[in-house]
Amino acid sequence: MDNLQGNILVVDDDPEICRLLADVLADEGHAVATSTNGKDAIKHLSQNIELVITDLQLKEMQGLDLMRQMKQIRPDVSVIIITAFGSMSSAVEAMKLGAYDYIPKPLKMDELALVVQKALRESALRREVAQLRKEIGRSYRFENMIGKSKAMQAIFDLIRRVSSSATNILITGDSGTGKELVARAIHYNSPRRDKPFIPVNCAAIPETLLESELFGLVIGAFTDAKQDKRGLFEEAGEGTILLDEISELPLSLQAKLLRVIQEKEVRRVGSAKICKVDVRVVAASNLDLSEAVKQKCFRQDLFYRLDVIHIHVPPLCERREDIMPLAYHFLNKYKDETQKSIKGFSEDVSSLFLSYNWPGNVRELENAVERGIIMARGEEVIPEDLPDTLNSGFAQSALLHEAIDRQSSLEELERAYIARILEQTGGAKTRAAQILGIDRKTLYRKLEHDREKSLPPEPFGASAD
Ligand SMILES: Nc1ncnc2c1ncn2[C@@H]1O[C@H](COP(=O)(O)OP(=O)(O)OP(=O)(O)O)[C@@H](O)[C@H]1O
Ligand SMILES: [Mg+2]
Repeated sequence: MDNLQGNILVVDDDPEICRLLADVLADEGHAVATSTNGKDAIKHLSQNIELVITDLQLKEMQGLDLMRQMKQIRPDVSVIIITAFGSMSSAVEAMKLGAYDYIPKPLKMDELALVVQKALRESALRREVAQLRKEIGRSYRFENMIGKSKAMQAIFDLIRRVSSSATNILITGDSGTGKELVARAIHYNSPRRDKPFIPVNCAAIPETLLESELFGLVIGAFTDAKQDKRGLFEEAGEGTILLDEISELPLSLQAKLLRVIQEKEVRRVGSAKICKVDVRVVAASNLDLSEAVKQKCFRQDLFYRLDVIHIHVPPLCERREDIMPLAYHFLNKYKDETQKSIKGFSEDVSSLFLSYNWPGNVRELENAVERGIIMARGEEVIPEDLPDTLNSGFAQSALLHEAIDRQSSLEELERAYIARILEQTGGAKTRAAQILGIDRKTLYRKLEHDREKSLPPEPFGASAD
């Protein structure tokens, strides 16, 4: 790990010791100021000091009083105490007041260098956390969304501008980028905020039920319909409906949805009666809908109706400035649940986070942080605490090595690889299919094939946990 260089204040009433320490620390690359008394030390504190090394036996002001005053003025500054033999009890007292560590006299310079490094690292981390907290509390936050990048700031701005109108909105972006969160932010910023917000995943409801789910039905429409049912459009009332994975809507229903949007009325399945609705429609998709239009899987007229305002949420790897603020946001969210006193992420974790390409986007980051916190033993999350997929180069090559060792067939390797990618996307099949370069139907067919043959999903290369 690189040596940190800091601004250090040395306080000792013996000018010889001040000079000696200043020389040694300056040799290590630190910027050093010295004071031979408490009052002068307090004056120096207003400067850029990150670390104070002080003797406890000062002439006019006792070291402990100095500590108290310093902690009041600059609670973020780290203090290392130098203790003479026999003054153990005041060292303990100083630690209680928040000193970072103490070093006994006679001073051993290598020990000093080590403690200084640790203290600087800790105070850097503390400053980073404080800074990120401030940022999260300020403009990088919108509703429950974090976003420091220009792209996210532009999205926040757009949400503010379009929320008050009733226009339809189309949100696109890869799986896990935060589309549903954007839809919620739109709803809760709109005059409809006290009315329902109803998310519907069009891909999760069987095609035969989708129409009655959306628009409702009356007795007799189906043999098993025992009572009339309100559809989700009626359910949403004067609120907002989120039609998620809209590309999965069958063409026949696309025509009906278009009518609902244009006429602002729904007709329950099996009924001739028409019911007026005033629902704001927000649609989301992780596919490029204009492409689907070209391929004639999506109606062009419906596309234009939905695409009045288009919000595209870019993948996390295209807005890396958001990674650490998001990571700290999730750290705060999950740390309380575990009652651990985790302060942050080790430097290695930060650089891993910043260099990884996050195919599962924010959802994957959230899962990684949650797991990191559960696994962490110390005050920092370290790389070993994270899911294997993150140490990915390593994980992928382990998969290949194992395949070679076992002389696996291509089919076995394919199965293991698909399972690994699905794990990485948090089970999102559309995204997995994109990464694998096959279409979703092919992916389903392959998974179905394995299920029929009752093959285990991941024959080897499983993660260690
Ligand atoms: N900017 C953000 N700030 C805070 N949390 C976020 C942000 N973006 C996403 N998340 C979190 O990441 C997770 C995934 O987000 P969400 O469900 O909105 O994604 P999605 O794009 O709808 O995914 P899918 O396409 O798979 O439905 C959620 O837990 C959400 O709270
Ligand atoms: Mg979603």
